[in-house]
Amino acid sequence: MFSPVSTPAYAIREVAFFVIGITTVIFLLVAGLAVYSLIRFRRRRGDDGREPPQVYGSHQIELAWTVAPLLIVVVLFLVTVRYIYGIERQKPPPDALEVTIVGHQWWWEIRYPKLGIVTANELHLPQSDPTSSTPTFVTLESADVIHSFWIPQLAGKMDVIPNKTNRIWIDPQRPGTYVGQCAEYCGMQHAGMLLTVTVHSRETFARWTAAQQAAASEDVQVRGGRQLFSSLACINCHTVRGTTANGVFGPDLTHLMSRSTIGAGVVRNTPESLRAWVADPSSLKPGALMPAMKLSPGDLDKVTAYLLSLR
Ligand code: CUA
Repeated sequence: MFSPVSTPAYAIREVAFFVIGITTVIFLLVAGLAVYSLIRFRRRRGDDGREPPQVYGSHQIELAWTVAPLLIVVVLFLVTVRYIYGIERQKPPPDALEVTIVGHQWWWEIRYPKLGIVTANELHLPQSDPTSSTPTFVTLESADVIHSFWIPQLAGKMDVIPNKTNRIWIDPQRPGTYVGQCAEYCGMQHAGMLLTVTVHSRETFARWTAAQQAAASEDVQVRGGRQLFSSLACINCHTVRGTTANGVFGPDLTHLMSRSTIGAGVVRNTPESLRAWVADPSSLKPGALMPAMKLSPGDLDKVTAYLLSLR
C-alpha cells in the first residue's frame, strides 16, 4: 500500500501518512514523558521509601486527558470520512470497464459481462490514462461465505458478502502485475485464495480480450481427452465454452492455459502440476472442494492433454 498505482490507493496512502504522523507525535510525547519521569523521579540514596503525595480529583488533568484525545479522534474521523466519500462518490463513466468478481471457497471467478469473457484468479485490465481516468468498476459477489477483495497497490479492502453486492473501482496507471489476497478468513484455504492483477497497455489488453473471446480450440490429437472430459463429472462443475461443459461451481476452463497458476495461486500452471491437480487436488491444496477424479494413468494423460489444449 506504500507504492500505490491507482487513485483510491493514492488516497489511502495519504490518510495512512496522516494517521501515522499524528500517532507518531502521540507516541513521542507519551514515551518521552515516561522516560523523563523514569529518570527524573528514580529512586535515590536517602529516599525514605514512602509513597509520594497522591493527587485526587484534579479537574485540569481530567479535562486535558479527555478533551485532547476526543479532539484527535474527531479529526481522524472527519478526515477519514472525507477520503471515503471522495473515493465512493466516483460514478462510472460510460467507457468504464465493468468486471464482476465472485468469491468462492477458495478461488475468484472473474467475469467481464460486456466483453463476454469468463476467467478465474487472474484479473487482466487496461492501463488507465492518468490525465483522463478510464477506471474499472468491479462488482463483488460471493457464492458461499464472506471473503474480502484486496489488492493493496490498487485500492482498499472490500468485503465480498453473500446476497449483497459491493462495488469498488480502480484505475491502475502503470502496466505490471499486482498481487492480491483474500483478506477475510473464509475457511481452510483462506491463505490459498490468491489473486493477481495484470495491467496491460491498451493494445495488449485488446489482444488479450480477443484471445479470451475465442471459443476453445479444437485439436484432433486432444479429441480423445475432450470426449473423456465430457463423459466425466468435470462438466458438472466446469465450463468450456462451445462444448457441453457448462458447470459454474468451479472455474471456467475455456482458456485455462492462459493463466499462470492453478488453485488460485497455490501452484504454477505446468503440465505436471495440472496432471497432479486432476489426479487429486487435495495433494496440492488440502481442503480444495474439487474431488480426486480417480482416473487411470492413461485417462489422466488424456484429460491433461485436453486441458493443455485450452489456450
Ligand atoms: Cu476467501 Cu479468505
